[in-house]
Amino acid sequence: MSNKLHVLTGITTTGTPHLGNYVGAIRPAIEASKRHDVLPFFFLADYHALIKCHDPQRVQQSTLEIAASWLALGLDTGNAIFYRQSDVPEIAELAWMLNCVTAKGLMNRAHAYKAAVQANQDAGDPDPDKGVTMGLYNYPVLMAADILMFRAHKVPVGRDQVQHIEMARDIAGRFNHLFGEHFVIPEAVISEDTATLLGLDGRKMSKSYDNTIPLFMAEKPFRKIINKIKTNSQEPGEPKDPEGCTLFSLFKAFATPEETAAIRIRYQEGIGWGEMKGVLFEYLNDHLKDARERYDALMEAPKAIEEILLTGAEKARAFSAPLMKEVRHSIGIRPLGGQPQ
Ligand code: TRP
Repeated sequence: MSNKLHVLTGITTTGTPHLGNYVGAIRPAIEASKRHDVLPFFFLADYHALIKCHDPQRVQQSTLEIAASWLALGLDTGNAIFYRQSDVPEIAELAWMLNCVTAKGLMNRAHAYKAAVQANQDAGDPDPDKGVTMGLYNYPVLMAADILMFRAHKVPVGRDQVQHIEMARDIAGRFNHLFGEHFVIPEAVISEDTATLLGLDGRKMSKSYDNTIPLFMAEKPFRKIINKIKTNSQEPGEPKDPEGCTLFSLFKAFATPEETAAIRIRYQEGIGWGEMKGVLFEYLNDHLKDARERYDALMEAPKAIEEILLTGAEKARAFSAPLMKEVRHSIGIRPLGGQPQ
């Protein structure tokens, strides 16, 4: 048992980490991994990946890429517990138990499910549940198990996930009421100040818009993709507005306030888009170069990553196994002929 504050977050293993993931989630998590006043739990949510992805190759590749990225960027695995959801069997076991105390009506209200139903209705489909698996429907229960299993106090997430934390609180309260105070009631932490990055087309950088810039790319394609970022048609020499400009949003997310102020002045002075793309490329490339080298080396050594994840899972199970024992007993799954309680 630790007395530290437990901070926990999961990353679904379906994609390749991009600059938006880095700024919004990875960078703050890595900073938190170095804080010795908290116990951070970071995990690869590979069971969550199955909800939206039935391509085994992609799930495996994404798991490797995400793990390599976090390690290359300096995750402190001495302090943080870094593991793969599927390596902790107690999580899936707990999810079932939670399913049995969760009202179906609560899940009816989940955003992801409602969005799927809405899409079917908009498409005029007679079956509102078309394409909805029980995995998608139950998604918040698995997420509650992830969180409650480690008695997380704080859960840093994006705004879109806040409802799921509310549901985890509900489910924890219900379980505790029925079977005793096993679980901590978690709180969502939404970081208001982490920048929302804009993507190649100027909309929010997101996998669903297909406008992302991968975090680790070889120098040449990286330069190429920066050159592809959409800008307006203003000419060099014309004063430009940094707000809403993708190039500026990217620069600002990485640079110091002083460097950002200097670039603001260049905008006023009318820096050309071509020149600004060059400045941005050099800046980002400088910042990512060393981590990229470590990433490339890690990608060549998947067995070393596997070892790290298994060590993390062992540490995680030091928490989950005793709690599961306690929970099983409390719900009446007990050895027969043992001590009655
Ligand atoms: N569902 C989260 C997402 O898509 C990922 C996730 C899974 C998670 N389990 C979690 C986040 C538990 C926080 C806590 O972003």
